[in-house]
Amino acid sequence: MKIIKELARLTNEEAEILKKTGSLGMETADRMIENVVGTSELPFGLGLHFLINGKEYVIPMCIEEPSVVAAASFAAKLAKPSGGFETSSSDPVMIGQIQILGFGNFEKAKNSILNNREKILSKANERDSVLINFGGGAKDIEIRRVDSEMGRMLVVHLLVDVRDAMGANAVNTMCEEVSPLLEELTGGYVRLKIISNLADKRLARAKAVWRKKVLEDSTKGLMKGEEVVDAVLEAYHLAANDPYRCATHNKGIMNGVDAVVIATGNDFRAVEAGAHSYASISGRYKPLTRYHKNKEGDLVGEIELPLAIGTVGGATRTKPEAKVALKILGVGSAKELSEIIASVGLAQNFAALRALATEGIQRGHMRLHAKNIAVTAGAKGSEIEKVSKMMIQEKKINVSKAKEILKKIRK
Ligand code: MEV
Repeated sequence: MKIIKELARLTNEEAEILKKTGSLGMETADRMIENVVGTSELPFGLGLHFLINGKEYVIPMCIEEPSVVAAASFAAKLAKPSGGFETSSSDPVMIGQIQILGFGNFEKAKNSILNNREKILSKANERDSVLINFGGGAKDIEIRRVDSEMGRMLVVHLLVDVRDAMGANAVNTMCEEVSPLLEELTGGYVRLKIISNLADKRLARAKAVWRKKVLEDSTKGLMKGEEVVDAVLEAYHLAANDPYRCATHNKGIMNGVDAVVIATGNDFRAVEAGAHSYASISGRYKPLTRYHKNKEGDLVGEIELPLAIGTVGGATRTKPEAKVALKILGVGSAKELSEIIASVGLAQNFAALRALATEGIQRGHMRLHAKNIAVTAGAKGSEIEKVSKMMIQEKKINVSKAKEILKKIRK
């Protein structure tokens, strides 16, 4: 701390900001990563009105962006009259990749591996008795051929059921464990042995119906229900056909997904990598959600994405607020958590499309943004509301305007 304070010329006050560690505490933070000088916080909000498979959930969401929690909650509320979210997911199977080179004949090497499938799987399962006792472990092998600028490669995919863990540690250890045997079987050499974040065997899905009448009411009668449904479909079809819009469409989904992933102490980079690579798996970057109109004319939304998240291990247990978040959620498994996260992603996306396709998102957004600007300008207590309201009325939201208004109301 002393060194960084000198190097970056931090004032005493600035150094104190870093040292204030909240619930994580310096000692735990220091055990989690390297070169620790402090901690960083995010607001911890609650997503409300979520009815998922007939069960009510309160959903912790950690995010710095205004409107996200309110939008997700609003979308969940509008989905409630039609039963909320229905979800499903595949088994929690992660892929470990083992890259083999210098093996000579590809088919011969491939057959040699496949003929020794059981031997390889039992080698992989030798160590992790906890995972095996819970019904997990290495379950299968797939072989892929990759022709590269540096020659032909054989890539073994070790398919590991990781149960309630995110799985990176278990999978990476298993990949290392089986590598000498794979070298022996193929006559080649192993280079990389690492998990794949394109977790396309660990998919979570959610579906919801937004009734046209509910959608009409949500615009306070300014638009007909049919018009809102069509407007959302038009917005969706731009994303489905244009990567520039699709990136923003998927970003909106990840607003909700990441907020829950972070609240529960999970690895949001892994989830992001998985989501965007899955969105591109067809060779074209596509939306993670799909929408259509059912025969009643209501809007049906669906989402499917890979979710490599856990409820045991890693920061889910070391970060105190992640433990509390999991308790608030009351989830029994990583599978259940992944389905909740998928529902939040869908809710977030629907909320954005509905707002964009009807009144636009800036109105709600601006209210919070204006409050933040008012605080930055030095407004305190009831001044914050007054300053932000006046800025919105005058359609000028910036710090100098806020300072000007503040000066006036203080006179
Ligand atoms: C902003 O963080 C997210 C949105 O841009 C998503 C979208 O456009 O669908 C509102």
